[in-house]
Amino acid sequence: MSPFVLSIMVVGITSISCWLYRWWNPRCKGKLPPGSMGWPLLGETLEFFAPNTTFDVSSFVRKRMERHGPIFRTSLVGRPIVVSTDPELNYFVFQQEGQMFQSWYPDTFTEIFGRQNVGSLHGFMYKYLKNMVLSLFGPESLKKMLPEVEGTVLKQLHQWSSRDMVELKDATASMIFNLTAKKLISHEAENSSENLRENFVAFIKGLISFPLDIPGTAYHECLQGRKRAMKMLKNMLQDRRMKPRKHNQDFFDYVLEELSKEGTVLTEGIALDLMFVLLFASFETTSLALTLAVKYLTDYPLVLQTLTEEHKAILRRRENMDSGLTWKEYKSMTFTFQFISETVRLANIVPGIFRKALRDINFKGYMIPAGWGVMVCPPAVHLNPDKYENPLDFNPWRWKGGEINGASKHFMAFGGGMRFCVGADFSKVQMAVFLHCLVTKYRWNAIKGGNILRTPGLQFPDGFHVQLSERSSGVESSP
Ligand code: HEM
Repeated sequence: MSPFVLSIMVVGITSISCWLYRWWNPRCKGKLPPGSMGWPLLGETLEFFAPNTTFDVSSFVRKRMERHGPIFRTSLVGRPIVVSTDPELNYFVFQQEGQMFQSWYPDTFTEIFGRQNVGSLHGFMYKYLKNMVLSLFGPESLKKMLPEVEGTVLKQLHQWSSRDMVELKDATASMIFNLTAKKLISHEAENSSENLRENFVAFIKGLISFPLDIPGTAYHECLQGRKRAMKMLKNMLQDRRMKPRKHNQDFFDYVLEELSKEGTVLTEGIALDLMFVLLFASFETTSLALTLAVKYLTDYPLVLQTLTEEHKAILRRRENMDSGLTWKEYKSMTFTFQFISETVRLANIVPGIFRKALRDINFKGYMIPAGWGVMVCPPAVHLNPDKYENPLDFNPWRWKGGEINGASKHFMAFGGGMRFCVGADFSKVQMAVFLHCLVTKYRWNAIKGGNILRTPGLQFPDGFHVQLSERSSGVESSP
């Protein structure tokens, strides 16, 4: 071998060895949390995405908690990450949004949700967008929306009851998508030649999958779904621009008005990314929670009985039983809110909430280096026996007299701090109204499915098929 080739090989091997050493021993000015950086480049991504079928904390997180404690390091989709299952660190991360930590999601998520999606924006622009969304899904709008939600749910339940069987996950997703799409962009699936939701279905399959963008992979399908959906949204916005309406009726009108203002900070790209995120965030999350809610009602007769009693009492207190739900009645649904909190605690629909450290941060003797990702892990807190007694038991009564509306140190199903979910109230309205109509007007039998899978996002791989039938009278006392 010539000395030249030999020296190239020596340099190559030395560089690779140094790089590998750095991969496994990242630079840090203090003590890094314990853990492993996994395979070069790949990190521990494959283990993270390994499917499991329990309600318990994923085996990826559980094994590492047992081995390293509540705070550990890893590498996922090419980034060094500190995983926090520690309630104090989680709380600290949420409270320090914009100061020591900043909302950040792995590049693959950003590709899927758009580079200018609300989760990737900060400071003034973020607050501006949040206010825009709150004007649509804040309490005043929700009050006005209540009759529309009830009307949609009643119509859907009636249609489903005429079928032999209905698959709840897909059916509720379609119902909620149509409701949100109407509110945001006046899109009526029945009157449209294009199926907007279809693109989101393709999209969901790959959302929490291994990020390999080659034809045939779920991730590739997901990106294609996004492309198609964005094209449709862009065309719709363009059409609206050509045919403006006199009064603002939906989010598109509002966006166009904002875009026409002189010196506006909003751009068409940001508005479209926001629309995409809202459409997705609204129907996928709430339909998963609703499907799980009905599954729990099916499996826990005492819970069903208590819930039914609460809703029949609402009807009994009315002068006219057929008058629609009022905001006061909605607010009076104490047990329903406990039931919803317990459902979303166990659902753990969002298995990881991501942030980035803006500077070196010391916490409980460990250093989180500037630039590293932090993954707050809600399931580890929601299923911690020190925080929730017998955490895997479904027990809505555990919320009695407790905090059920906002985030707390131990409840972060809707996130926490400044970035607390803007759709949490919208989601609760939809769930509560659905449950009200379901238990007062219908009975159901589970036919098949109802099994869960986590990859690590929650899924119903075989759906949840039920048969619905109308009750004879709305206020008889037994469920
Ligand atoms: C059961 C239903 C839902 C669950 C479990 C849920 C969960 C969450 C969580 C955990 C976050 C925090 C993410 C973070 O901090 O990075 C979040 C944020 C968000 N959610 Fe929801 N969500 C639900 C329903 C909805 C609905 C119905 C909408 C739409 C109207 C929505 C829109 C959003 C948006 C836009 C954000 C980003 C907020 C921000 O960055 O400040 N969500 N959600």
